Amino acid sequence: MKEGKILKELLQDFAEIKKHSLVDGELWRASYTKEDQKVKEYLTAMMRTKGFIVSQDALMNLLGQIEGRESDETILVGSHLDTVKNGGEFDGLYGFLAGIYAIENLVKVYGQPKRSLAVVGFMEEEGSRFTSGYIGSRAIVGELKDSDFAEVDRSGTSLREAVKLAGGKPSECISAKRLDIKAFFEVHIEQGPVLEQSGKQIGLVESINGLRILQITVRGRQDHAGTTPMGLRKDALLHACKIISNMDRLTENTISPSTATVGELLLKPGSSNVVPDFVQFTVDIRSSDSEAIKYIVCGISKIAETIKHAGLEVKIEVIADEPPIQLDDDLLKANEMICKEEGYSYFVMNSGAGHDAQVIAPHIPSALLFVPCVGGRSHTPEEAMTEVSMMDGIQILSRVLYDQAW
Ligand code: GLV
Ligand code: MN
Ligand code: MN
Repeated sequence: MKEGKILKELLQDFAEIKKHSLVDGELWRASYTKEDQKVKEYLTAMMRTKGFIVSQDALMNLLGQIEGRESDETILVGSHLDTVKNGGEFDGLYGFLAGIYAIENLVKVYGQPKRSLAVVGFMEEEGSRFTSGYIGSRAIVGELKDSDFAEVDRSGTSLREAVKLAGGKPSECISAKRLDIKAFFEVHIEQGPVLEQSGKQIGLVESINGLRILQITVRGRQDHAGTTPMGLRKDALLHACKIISNMDRLTENTISPSTATVGELLLKPGSSNVVPDFVQFTVDIRSSDSEAIKYIVCGISKIAETIKHAGLEVKIEVIADEPPIQLDDDLLKANEMICKEEGYSYFVMNSGAGHDAQVIAPHIPSALLFVPCVGGRSHTPEEAMTEVSMMDGIQILSRVLYDQAW
């Protein structure tokens, strides 16, 4: 493998793609936007020069295919192309590019593979535009339902409209379902500090945290901030805070480690001299143990009851619910063996972050491999990778794909 050349091209790709992904100076590549389209144009041209057959499915997942010699079985590799708002450069995109460079190099060295290989750039994994997320991977396994297309973004555009406007075909969603995929491999930065602190080069993921996202709406009464005595108010924000300020207590009480995050909050009417009557916020709850997630949801519901007793309305909706997932044990063992044979140190671990692999895994044997990110920082513009980690991931993925397809 010509590591120097690959690294040089890879760094250029990250820099170019970053330029296409800025919204008001911040990196945000939400799906079905012009940033997404520009980046897909860049990647399409780049993949074609490397010999891939490029296509987009009905949901606009970007696919680069190398046909196999002998079978119609496909090995799928990749990750998502979207980012969170004001996010980092490597989350998702690294896994897509690692697949491209690993396969390009393998074809150069060993010629046409026996099994077909496809690199996928999934749409809207993060949920930074459509909160339920995992849109592209759900389509690939046939789990995206017609009702899911009714979800709206902050501007009121539905997923159905957004896909159509970008050139996709929501009504043909079922055609995106793939029956030829024999295994799926995702390479990703860890996005947390565990792997870096372990001092190992590769994280072999055995399980991915479950995730439930709630959208909570509190409705109170709009009043004058100067004249309404404190005891007579129905301040929606003050009551919402009773839920929000308990996140640390609720997570501290779960038997297995858990997290709960309020990352989005909308307040109305939003004037310094008006008591707010409307607050809507999300709660992102995660654990490798479903009981811990249930415990936190139950705690939130109990607090909501006390708010209702104070005369306000509280509505709790579940907008995403992904159970904790075990990844394929045989692939994990094979990858352990590969790390040993290739002389890479590794660590078998749980993933705190969500990944497309968790949507694919219940349907298709799947493996998720981590490389460290600097300081464990992610979902921030400060996200960074070392050049050594970039190449470690590509090296290990190359060996994995060689064993699968040649
Ligand atoms: C995706 O990065 C997630 O875990 O939210
Ligand atoms: Mn992410
Ligand atoms: Mn990601």
